[in-house]
Amino acid sequence: MQQPPPVKVEREGDIAWVTIDNPPVNATSIGVRQGLANAVEAVKGARVAVLTCAGKTFIAGGDMSEFDAPPVEPHLPDVVQMIEDSEVPFVALMHGNVLGGGFEVAMACAWRIAASDTRFGLPEVKVGLIPGAGGTQRLPRLVGMEAAIDIACSGKILTAQDLLDLGAVDYVAEDLQSAVREFVTDLPDRPVPVSQRDVPKYPPELIEKSRETLLKRSKGQQSPLENLTALIWSSEPFAKAQPKERARHLELRQRAESRALRHAFFAERNVARPLAIKGAIPRDISRIAVVGGGLMGAGIATAALLGGLSVTLIERDADAAAAAHERVAGLLQGAVSRGKLTGAQLQDRMEAFRAVDDYAAAADAQLAVEAVFEDLAVKQQVFAELAEYMDGEAILATNTSYLDPMEIFAGINNQACCIGLHFFSPAHVMKLLEIVRTPHTSSEVIATGFAIGKRLGKISVLSGICDGFIGNRMLAAYRREADYLLADGALPYQVDEAMREFGMPMGPYELQDLTGLQIAWANRKRNAATRNPQERYVTIADQLCENGRFGQRTGKGWYRYDDGNRTPIRDPDVESLIESYSAAHDIQRREFRTEEISSRLIAVLSNEGALIVEEGIAESAEAVDMVQIHGYGFPRWRGGPMNYSNEIGPAVSRQTMETVAAENPGSWRIARER
Ligand code: NAI
Repeated sequence: MQQPPPVKVEREGDIAWVTIDNPPVNATSIGVRQGLANAVEAVKGARVAVLTCAGKTFIAGGDMSEFDAPPVEPHLPDVVQMIEDSEVPFVALMHGNVLGGGFEVAMACAWRIAASDTRFGLPEVKVGLIPGAGGTQRLPRLVGMEAAIDIACSGKILTAQDLLDLGAVDYVAEDLQSAVREFVTDLPDRPVPVSQRDVPKYPPELIEKSRETLLKRSKGQQSPLENLTALIWSSEPFAKAQPKERARHLELRQRAESRALRHAFFAERNVARPLAIKGAIPRDISRIAVVGGGLMGAGIATAALLGGLSVTLIERDADAAAAAHERVAGLLQGAVSRGKLTGAQLQDRMEAFRAVDDYAAAADAQLAVEAVFEDLAVKQQVFAELAEYMDGEAILATNTSYLDPMEIFAGINNQACCIGLHFFSPAHVMKLLEIVRTPHTSSEVIATGFAIGKRLGKISVLSGICDGFIGNRMLAAYRREADYLLADGALPYQVDEAMREFGMPMGPYELQDLTGLQIAWANRKRNAATRNPQERYVTIADQLCENGRFGQRTGKGWYRYDDGNRTPIRDPDVESLIESYSAAHDIQRREFRTEEISSRLIAVLSNEGALIVEEGIAESAEAVDMVQIHGYGFPRWRGGPMNYSNEIGPAVSRQTMETVAAENPGSWRIARER
């Protein structure tokens, strides 16, 4: 079947209607660029041209699938310029998303009219780029330098009202059709084209201040600073600066940072559709039960309420239920303070929530998520009680970190409805949800897990069963190597610094102090009997726990914390404990360079990730990268450990892993390939 042309021009008296129809999001792919170039010719003779888009949105960006290939003519900046220079002035009539190339096209039009729910932005920074079709040059001329920095360097989304306040749209309307008809009937004088205007004066210190903020915030990512640089070029004439912007845009497309961010962008979409749910239809879930209202249960209940579900939380006794109720109310109140919820919505959400101490209350829930103590017998008992009251087809989910879901669900008849939903702390904030399938979980139930994840705004990743699933198993490998580094010569602050320098928000030891050392300790004790005797086992972390050093909550862990302060302070007690450990094991401590530390730890992470894929625990390397980025703070601009090791070359990464493994052969298995 022949596709309709992506750009159509129709005349209605002296008005030319130019309509882009390039589903799904009217991206500026080659057909659209060519169509727009032709349209500038075709509208000649009209009094005004109205540029609009079919479907749900205006142009929502470029076509990223074209980014790896050399650009094809006509290039977007030229098309945008043709629109601005057109002898017939253009009105942009916008709805949906006006992003990237879409915003650049809109800025070249003489006037801009937007539906009130239109969203605007230049998200190029989020894929490691700067705009390439005049965005960084027209935007400061249109909205001023301060707002332009705010928009282009963060990639944030603005509303139509924001744009109206900035003077960047002429009209915001509920009914676009009648608004534009009224507007073109009495057309104002054609304004000076945006590219020919001066950038409004701004305080000279603005640039340096912004640079400092961006340097701090971007943690090694270059694109926010690249955008700032390009915005500064707007002090030069447009005709000189715009080609520089274009050249830099094309250069950045070839850089590792942009490749990594685009990898993350596509991986997010791909992991949401694992093969395991192909063709499966998720159930429609509206009522859930959460068992256990501690740290995780309260967070999960909050996330579910924010996602619009009704939640019944079940605790051990009335006091614990009251405490859990308070915890959830506090978290929802926090959402109000952050502007995520209005007062009226808070009331509605509180009405959809109850905390009780009676399992019978779970009777009408379609799904139960268990988040009680990490204890097999306790969890088995919880599910036995739930099974007694809930429908036989209801979904039973565990939030266990390390226990085997097969053992947890051993006593349940309907194994097809049992699943792991592993949230990360704090559960109402962290994006990652590991969906753990057992060999018996039905594809319908897995698909329902994904639907719930989406409803709660999570990035869901499918995992099979292994110790720690995808994320905590990788974390264990990462910590194991970090502990070897300590035993062999490094100190916690050096390891933490090296990983921060790599781009992690925190090093492994600061992070352990923040989240607490107990759960991993309990897991190590549980696994002691079955641990491979060939594996080198460093006991420094255990010694800290034995000394009551569980992290920030106890005022000390790998570091010291003074008076409830969260800033880690190096602790000579810990450092001498480490040095005595080395001495007691006849280890000659040696220096580790910062880069040596990070390259070893990342090699270990990507090796473990490759093993996880090899064993079929994760469906793809992309899934592993998503777990690391959304659950463990791996820098998105590095694309995750699998992407990173690909980028530096699998052979390089493998060689580092071989060096690591050669030092402690019993501790590591090397993946076949990655
Ligand atoms: P927590 O100790 O803060 O909360 C557990 C809650 O369960 C307590 O409020 C307790 O009163 C309640 N509870 C215990 N037995 C119960 C029963 N029979 N019926 C009803 N309620 C009962 O523990 P936390 O940290 O929330 O962990 C819960 C689960 O989530 C554990 O399996 C843990 O491994 C897992 N998890 C923990 C993460 C974390 O960062 N803390 C992250 C991801 C999973």
